[in-house]
Amino acid sequence: GTCGLIDTFGRHVRYLRLSVTDRCDLRCVYCMSEHMTFMPRKDLLSLEELDRLAEAFIRRGVSKIRITGGEPLVRKDIMTLFAAFGAQLNAGRLRELTLTTNGTSLAQFADGLARCGVKRINVSLDTLDPDLYRSLTRGGVLAKVLEGIEAARSVGLAVKINVVALRGSTATEADRLIRFAHDRNMTVTFIETMPLGDIGVDRIDQYLPLDQLRRSIEERWTLSDLPLRTGGPARYARVAETGGVIGFITPLTHNFCEDCNRVRVTAAGILHTCLGQEDAVDLKAVMRRSHDDTELMRTIDGAIRDKPRGHDFVINRNGAPPALSRHMSATGG
Ligand code: GTP
Ligand code: 5AD
Ligand code: SF4
Repeated sequence: GTCGLIDTFGRHVRYLRLSVTDRCDLRCVYCMSEHMTFMPRKDLLSLEELDRLAEAFIRRGVSKIRITGGEPLVRKDIMTLFAAFGAQLNAGRLRELTLTTNGTSLAQFADGLARCGVKRINVSLDTLDPDLYRSLTRGGVLAKVLEGIEAARSVGLAVKINVVALRGSTATEADRLIRFAHDRNMTVTFIETMPLGDIGVDRIDQYLPLDQLRRSIEERWTLSDLPLRTGGPARYARVAETGGVIGFITPLTHNFCEDCNRVRVTAAGILHTCLGQEDAVDLKAVMRRSHDDTELMRTIDGAIRDKPRGHDFVINRNGAPPALSRHMSATGG
């Protein structure tokens, strides 16, 4: 598409984050409550609907698709979708196809992903300590993720590690994560925890502002800011001692909404034009009502024109409910 999706603040939207499931094999403490309820399967977009939706976004100018979840690789037949999107890459209609994963099943999927044209993936990994990993994910097995990362690297995928900054642990985990990532030529990005969905605990107990984490990292490592912007929310710095790169995603302490280039679609086909606002347009309803894609594309254009200026996340004190009732696992991060 050449028309391009553009909002009232002049931002071009070329990046679609498409969630394919709200389910996950893990229960990270900052993402889910212990007892989550998931969408009924009938509410999920079918593979055909996901394909149709992607086609409409591509026709309207989207050139990058990131598959998210929940955990995208728990979805049955997920490789069929990657194959279909890979064909769009081959046809020159997409510039980039990627995913964000918890990595637990990458050993099984890495090769297939690479064959579909995926070049870079983001893997969530908050610690290299097996016991801490088990407790932060409520049952996850670190060795599986490490095996998954090696599998991805061995088929030539570039891996970025995402670390959610947590008050109790990240300051002490950061050193090992930086060393681990940089020894393997991987970027490691630290992310401020965002208040999405009721997770049954007070967010203030988890929240670690990245300014504070950065100061503690700088006690041991020499950081120099890089001008590098990848169109994403991260700010990057080079570590002199390793030559590697660290990213910082700071929605709370330094908002980056002015250059936002992305929108999200949930596994139920709801378009959210901002991660941090309630704005929602039901694209599934449009698709199920009409087999003609004109209305679908018109709806997408209208929603994007009305994309909110930005979020207003705050970490609530006194156990106040989060600003947004939607969980990260529903929106896809
Ligand atoms: P690349 O720039 O393509 O590497 O990826 P990314 O950083 O956009 O994607 P990733 O899935 O790795 O996201 C990392 C974290 O950044 C997740 O916690 C996302 O929720 C968060 N994030 C991504 N986009 C936004 C955004 O527009 N607003 C906010 N507040 N957070 C975002
Ligand atoms: N705040 C910030 N990041 C989160 N993620 C999940 N929940 C949150 C949250 N509340 C991260 C995951 C993954 C990415 C898609 O979002 O760890 O890296
Ligand atoms: Fe699963 Fe990712 Fe949420 Fe952890 S953060 S529970 S891996 S969706």
